[in-house]
Amino acid sequence: MSQPLPAPGDRFRFTCLGHRSHGLCSPLSAPKLERLLAQLRLQRGEVMLDLAGGKGLLARAVVERTGARAVVVDANPHFLAEGRAALTDPRASRGLAADLDELVFTHPRSRKSSHPSHPSHQGTAAPADLIDYVQGDVAELAAAGRLPTPAALVACVGARPWADRRTTLAALCDLTAPGGQVLVGEGYYRAAPDAEFMAFLGEEDPAEFEVAFDDHPRLAAELGLELRWSHAASLQEFADYDGRFCEALESWCLAHPSDPDAPAFLERIRAWSGVMTRHGREVMGFGWYLYQRA
Ligand SMILES: C[S@@+](CC[C@H](N)C(=O)[O-])C[C@H]1O[C@@H](n2cnc3c(N)ncnc32)[C@H](O)[C@@H]1O
Repeated sequence: MSQPLPAPGDRFRFTCLGHRSHGLCSPLSAPKLERLLAQLRLQRGEVMLDLAGGKGLLARAVVERTGARAVVVDANPHFLAEGRAALTDPRASRGLAADLDELVFTHPRSRKSSHPSHPSHQGTAAPADLIDYVQGDVAELAAAGRLPTPAALVACVGARPWADRRTTLAALCDLTAPGGQVLVGEGYYRAAPDAEFMAFLGEEDPAEFEVAFDDHPRLAAELGLELRWSHAASLQEFADYDGRFCEALESWCLAHPSDPDAPAFLERIRAWSGVMTRHGREVMGFGWYLYQRA
């Protein structure tokens, strides 16, 4: 059974609706995920921390391929519940099931995977025994020493749990074992956004609009991290991700006109979708960066 929708007024309801058909809640295609997985140096039994990990698609992919353990941490309890339920019942998450099929099991290497549907699963631990889901604020859990660190791989994709890029990257580095890897997914700008788009985003720091794809590796080098792999999400990857988000929200709002949240959600997603199609998808970028710690 698919996971219940958060109740009206729940602060995660909008994002849960928008990501109904996503497993991975960030822009990446199957061939690029494959390239990323091929760069990981994780061994069976080592730990991946998937911070701000959403439904844990990335953790699933890593665990299925490497036999490593993973801990997915996220503030959104609904995403975590969906990811956890989908470990034993694919029907619990339409988005995860679809993205796992498209992104993780399409490649020939997947025949060696530990997925229960694969014969090679026999004798290896099932993903359900290898992934834990922890709800909470990443920075608070880290400060309280409640994360299993140092970890061999620390990922943080699509979120900035600490004050800014530098502090976040430094904190991720601190959580990583010497010789381990840090994976970051961060927004940047392909081109200067126009005034309407800037005003719509309401960004307080104008310097944010000048962040380019290459800035992150420069920052990482200052922190002693070596770049191993990077990828600028293509316009197609970005449009696929954002398009699915907009469509999921719009179609749900139109199908549930008497829901108390529907009118405001519809207005919000139409405004976002309009601005994104007019100016946003051409100028907003998303960078993937895999680093190695000394
Ligand atoms: C765009 S989604 C990306 C999710 C996941 N990394 C992926 O790629 O599928 C961003 C996620 O970050 C989580 N998040 C943002 N800030 C957070 C924080 N300080 N602590 C925990 N989770 C956070 C949100 O709840 C959301 O699930």
